[in-house]
Amino acid sequence: MALCIGVPKEAAAGEKRVATVPEVVEKLAKLGFSVAVQSGAGDAANFADDTYRAAGAEVVGSAAELWARADIVFKVRPPSTDEVGLMREGGTLIGFVWPAQNPELMQQLAARKATVLAIDCLPRQLSRAQKMDALTSMAGISGYRAVIEAANAFGRFFNGQITAAGKIPPAKVFIAGAGVAGLAAIGTAANLGAIVRANDTRAEVADQVVSLGGEFVKVDYEEEGSGGGGYAKVMSEGFQAAQRAMYAQQARDADIIVTTALIPGKPAPKLISADMVKSMRPGSVIVDMAAEQGGNCELTVPGEAVVRHGVTIIGYTDLASRLAKQSSTLYATNLLRVTEELCRTKDGTINVDFGDDAIRGLTVLKEGVVTWPAPPPKLPAAPPKPPAAAAVPTPKGHGHGVGEPMSGKALAVVFVVGALLFALVGLYAPTTFLAHFTVFVLACFVGYMVIWNVTPALHTPLMSVTNAISSIIAIGALIQIAPPLGGAGADRPGGLILLLAVIALALTGVNMFGGFAVTRRMLAMFRK
Ligand code: NAI
Repeated sequence: MALCIGVPKEAAAGEKRVATVPEVVEKLAKLGFSVAVQSGAGDAANFADDTYRAAGAEVVGSAAELWARADIVFKVRPPSTDEVGLMREGGTLIGFVWPAQNPELMQQLAARKATVLAIDCLPRQLSRAQKMDALTSMAGISGYRAVIEAANAFGRFFNGQITAAGKIPPAKVFIAGAGVAGLAAIGTAANLGAIVRANDTRAEVADQVVSLGGEFVKVDYEEEGSGGGGYAKVMSEGFQAAQRAMYAQQARDADIIVTTALIPGKPAPKLISADMVKSMRPGSVIVDMAAEQGGNCELTVPGEAVVRHGVTIIGYTDLASRLAKQSSTLYATNLLRVTEELCRTKDGTINVDFGDDAIRGLTVLKEGVVTWPAPPPKLPAAPPKPPAAAAVPTPKGHGHGVGEPMSGKALAVVFVVGALLFALVGLYAPTTFLAHFTVFVLACFVGYMVIWNVTPALHTPLMSVTNAISSIIAIGALIQIAPPLGGAGADRPGGLILLLAVIALALTGVNMFGGFAVTRRMLAMFRK
């Protein structure tokens, strides 16, 4: 029997997001589910009840009614004790749960024999899991919003300007921690025209910082900061001291600091001291995105914006929710992807299959039994590293690959053989054949020279363009259609030949114009 997916209004104070949006309701219906939404659930994210109704959802009046109806509940924030009380026994819940931080909630859900998929427990390292990765989609939005909040509190332009009233220097933005949120902040600030610098303990992110328009600032201390799985680790005392010195220097120089530094399972590292805040120019702004985990700045007040030593310190913990329409849409899509994995049969039922690494990682409770933490997923073995260049002998005398020039020796052999062939043909063949043969050989030579110098990636567009050019045979058809050169009295070809020539012309026309059009489209893929 088709199951009912229920979407309650988020009960947490100030939470504006909703776990599904009308556009996704339609897709859930196509998977065979019925969808019930609590009245007003999408109001704060600008999705009115009517838009859900129009998409095929049933709108129910109260939370109690919704939880009682739903076989599967989609939520954003972890449910409150009251909400767990409303849940159907043996029901399924999909949403943020944070089992490590919420042991009591886990117990309550276990008591209700619930099956719970915690979106925060997704094994993010699986490439297949990326479409379900709500942590990444929410962090990206938060990073963007952090810069917008900073711009709102900052009294100047981000980009430098030269106006009649004087020259305005660009704002200097420093980003601490270049994970998903940090990278989004770098891109946003750079797009607004600021000078952006960033630091992270994981050296591997340096290239990503640069590609988004930032400059990577290194700590003058050799230590690798990767703690595995793309996350950071707690650094040594020596590193931390060197990092403090560098951050103090950046704080004096920066107009805006956005901090995003987190270490899984640990309090946020304190990177910006009270003294560093004091050293900043009045009117500067700090956005502390790690506020919920204790903050990267000593003076942050979680959930609030405060002014200390003339610097505005923003510690909002609801940055993604402040862009509710965008975050709800992305979150709803992430949950839809999870549902697709659970319902491969598209018949409105789910199968929590532990053979699927992504589903196994997500499932923290199955029918009331705690299944968290999941064993690490089996990652495909890394491809073996190619042996060092010296160890790979280049095959000799076995021809050459596409794009490689011929060796001098091979070229000499080709020339000698070619010359001998020519001599033979010249001695015995009729004169008319010799003229055609010369054109043929020259065409082969030019074709060889042109094609072998083209990068293999461009071979497909090259083929389509040569195909288009080959339509030159259209001339043959044209000659048949046109009146013969001999004037009015000369013989015209018969009706059948004319018909065939017209058909040939039409077909070569398709080949010619189609070939050029395809080439244009393919080359467009290589252009930025
Ligand atoms: P996060 O929110 O846990 O941490 C944010 C950033 O702070 C990290 O880049 C971390 O290195 C940095 N950091 C921690 N301590 C620091 C310190 N003392 N000083 C300076 N920086 C510090 O991490 P997030 O954003 O959730 O993801 C981290 C990484 O995982 C990213 O590079 C991301 O690309 C990667 N990732 C990979 C996925 C995949 O393989 N499919 C999926 C999702 C994320």
